[in-house]
Amino acid sequence: MSDVVGTHVRTNRERWNEISDDYQRFNAPRIRGQAFTGDVAWGLWGLPESELNIFGDVAGLDVLEMGCGGSQWSTALARRGANPVGLDLSERQLQHSLRLQRETGLTFPLVQASAEEVPFADGSFHIVFADHGAFSFADPLRAIPEAARILRVGGLLAFSHISPLYEITVEAGSDRAGRKLARDYFDLRMFADADGLVSANLPYGEWIGLFRSCGLAIEDLLETRPKDDPALSGRQRSDNEWARRWPSECIWRLRKTTSQGER
Ligand SMILES: C[S@@+](CC[C@H](N)C(=O)[O-])C[C@H]1O[C@@H](n2cnc3c(N)ncnc32)[C@H](O)[C@@H]1O
Repeated sequence: MSDVVGTHVRTNRERWNEISDDYQRFNAPRIRGQAFTGDVAWGLWGLPESELNIFGDVAGLDVLEMGCGGSQWSTALARRGANPVGLDLSERQLQHSLRLQRETGLTFPLVQASAEEVPFADGSFHIVFADHGAFSFADPLRAIPEAARILRVGGLLAFSHISPLYEITVEAGSDRAGRKLARDYFDLRMFADADGLVSANLPYGEWIGLFRSCGLAIEDLLETRPKDDPALSGRQRSDNEWARRWPSECIWRLRKTTSQGER
């Protein structure tokens, strides 16, 4: 395992504080509509929840967003009648969440913590989810058991992340998928990215073993693809072409089947 484990939480907190304003400037216009319309869209390719139906009806459900960033998702789910809590490591990202709460008038609890150690009792939530959130940056061997612990039996864990296959084609110092194998498949747990963040992933078999050991049954693994868009050019065009041929993103839909101690 890489030497960034142990320091990754501090590194990611500092780095997310630094890049938060740029991240929100770039991404908020795209995902912000969600906060105002309640219409959520998943992942890199903006696939609407109405097509994927990962959550179903959320009205009245207690929902935790792990790595909420500017809370556009949680705000949208609040608009749909859920009781969200937004959790994030970065205080700057949470300031953006607060700003959105002031704009929309929709308020809900915001918590600063790491997904690896969350301040909630066992069985607190019906849904725990993240769209390229905390599970992309926290140690999976700590964050997935935490998510399972705070879910009620029958609850849903849903999250998206970059696919392991994509990650192993990224050359050192690059932030783009290539067409050759460049990184060790069996050493994906925590690795330093070109953008100064520490990312997390696992080989597919290890994800599955981890879910099983936490009492999480796999309902679905979506490997999403972008639609062909001839209007794109340059880098976006080639990223889009890559992802139409090979898996760029995973969205897991997992159901908690057992209570603690019954695994
Ligand atoms: C790519 S952003 C996604 C934010 C949000 N899901 C969105 O759609 O904009 C990832 C978020 O995960 C947060 N994060 C990173 N490591 C975390 C950890 N260990 N625990 C909680 N949040 C974390 C970052 O601060 C950041 O806000």
